[in-house]
Amino acid sequence: MASTTEIAPDIFRISVFVPEIDLQFNHFVVRDEEPLLYHTGTRAFWGEVRDAVTRILDPATIRWIGFSHVEADECGALGEWLKVAPHAVPVCSRLGAQVNADFVTGRARGMDDGELLVTGTHRFSFRRTPQLPHGWDAGLLFEECDRTLLCSDLLHQNGDVPAVTGDDVIERARASLLEYEAGALADYIPYTARTDAVMQALAELEPQTLAAMHGSTYVGDGRRTLLEFNEVLRDVFGEP
Ligand SMILES: [Fe+2]
Ligand SMILES: [Fe+2]
Repeated sequence: MASTTEIAPDIFRISVFVPEIDLQFNHFVVRDEEPLLYHTGTRAFWGEVRDAVTRILDPATIRWIGFSHVEADECGALGEWLKVAPHAVPVCSRLGAQVNADFVTGRARGMDDGELLVTGTHRFSFRRTPQLPHGWDAGLLFEECDRTLLCSDLLHQNGDVPAVTGDDVIERARASLLEYEAGALADYIPYTARTDAVMQALAELEPQTLAAMHGSTYVGDGRRTLLEFNEVLRDVFGEP
């Protein structure tokens, strides 16, 4: 069964652990005047995640459905969610809304870098992050009031780990990436000539909370953690 944790005021982490692949899939719900769901999850988790969302708010009231990039765990259940939340609007990068128009129903809100999504008391700034963690269309949302970065696959950690931690997660993230490099899941995050600048810009947001899709939510010095994770990415995926 999915487990739910409030990781920041009115921001809930709904986690499904899949033992067969030793991995958590986290979905985030923001309770506000215009509720936001970030990551729909795959269709396989749809019923479980919907039931968990229902314990927080009425799914029919969801106004925004956000995700970083088109991939099954990010937005595979978008169609299911739009059936129960008929007034919801998908939120992604402007490029994603354009090139994935068929998938995002042609009515997505395409966001530009720095553009604000105000859901009520929460204000989300969109950050364009092409190819980070992966995908041409990638972007992230940063909640400005409580400084929560919804960071998708960044800070990926394998295992059935605690929902929230203030401990260092960098070595756990490094070990997970190295594990993937040894098998069919290699080349998870491309390290390009532009990656460093994008990671530096994310660090400059000085997040207090890093809401990872896979693994623990980190609470603490988000700037330092992102800079350290940038070094891990360079070590694992960069040029030798
Ligand atoms: Fe991904
Ligand atoms: Fe993911």
